[in-house]
Amino acid sequence: MKMLTTTIWKVDQKESLQEAASLLREGGLVAFPTETVYGLGADARNSSAVARIFEAKGRPSDNPLIVHIAKLEQLDELVLPYSDLAAALMAKFWPGPLTIVLPAKSDALSPLVTANLATVGVRMPDHNLALELIALADCPVAAPSANRSGRPSPTCAEHVLEDLSGRIDGVVDGGATGVGLESTVVELEGDHAIRILRPGGLTQAELRQAFPKVQIIYEESDQLEQAPRSPGMKYVHYAPQGELQLVQGETSNVIEYIRAQSRLAKERGVKTGVLAFEERLDQYEADMVQSCGSELRLEEAAHRLYAALRAFDASGIQRIWAECSLQTEYGIGEALMNRMLKAAGNCIKQV
Ligand code: TXA
Ligand code: MG
Repeated sequence: MKMLTTTIWKVDQKESLQEAASLLREGGLVAFPTETVYGLGADARNSSAVARIFEAKGRPSDNPLIVHIAKLEQLDELVLPYSDLAAALMAKFWPGPLTIVLPAKSDALSPLVTANLATVGVRMPDHNLALELIALADCPVAAPSANRSGRPSPTCAEHVLEDLSGRIDGVVDGGATGVGLESTVVELEGDHAIRILRPGGLTQAELRQAFPKVQIIYEESDQLEQAPRSPGMKYVHYAPQGELQLVQGETSNVIEYIRAQSRLAKERGVKTGVLAFEERLDQYEADMVQSCGSELRLEEAAHRLYAALRAFDASGIQRIWAECSLQTEYGIGEALMNRMLKAAGNCIKQV
């Protein structure tokens, strides 16, 4: 592919966003921050622009893209009439880290966006720069995470450039993102059930609390089957270059196992890394030990995970062990565990 000059827009000047928005409108590829991770945006109606997203990322063409909007009025031209439950979810959680899969209007979007499915995933991101950019561009914006396919998602502009410099037109630099993991993707069954296709920034507990009478379905096994409902879940994802193993069990066993394994590897000349909670950082002697924050605040681990995986890569770490908290079934822990398992290719050691 032809190498491009990738512009970095600092957003202290109003003209930068205007310039980025004009480029988007003209078929350009513009990365931008959201509250979850950076997205790589293109005009969702323009097939040649959307085709460039797949090319820049090296993304399989059967994996549909999420369409981002800034105002509810943008939705009517994209989707068929939707249920009361869908409307209630939007009212409660938009803007926010929730993607809702809805029946798509035919011809409203490039067929590349939906990978020829009859549905489209839509979300309104909770980030001022994203909302302003989309409003200025005045078009629905298709945006996957702004990483090369398979790599950890970008949580700052530098990560985007690491993967996509020379392959996209520009990136709006809004600093680090908040949540650090992607949005929760849901599909609705009439007005009675919400099926979580991908756990994410909006937790299952938040959904249950807001809609106590609605059934919330999350089948973990869905995520590992060959034909998952959310097509993107079947590919290698979020993976560092080093070999990552998750370690789960009693804290003292986890420490002992990681210490022994990393010592052995180090003796063989392998560059070792450990991702551990702040409470136990001093237990490890690997070449690179990174903190994922306190184990009492998994939001912090979510916020830091992708940057940590990229930092191991930057230091050429070949084998990585990650402590896996036992509390991962609650709150953001569910999405965190989902991403860590994928990053590790499901390699988890019980000790
Ligand atoms: O937080 C996020 O969602 C970020 C930011 C940039 O908004 N975007 C993101 O996009 O994570 P991406 O492309 O990396 O992941 C989109 C996920 C994939 O798993 C895809 O299969 C699923 O959403 N998806 C998209 N459209 C769908 C549809 N119509 N039906 C089922 N799943 C869909
Ligand atoms: Mg992605």
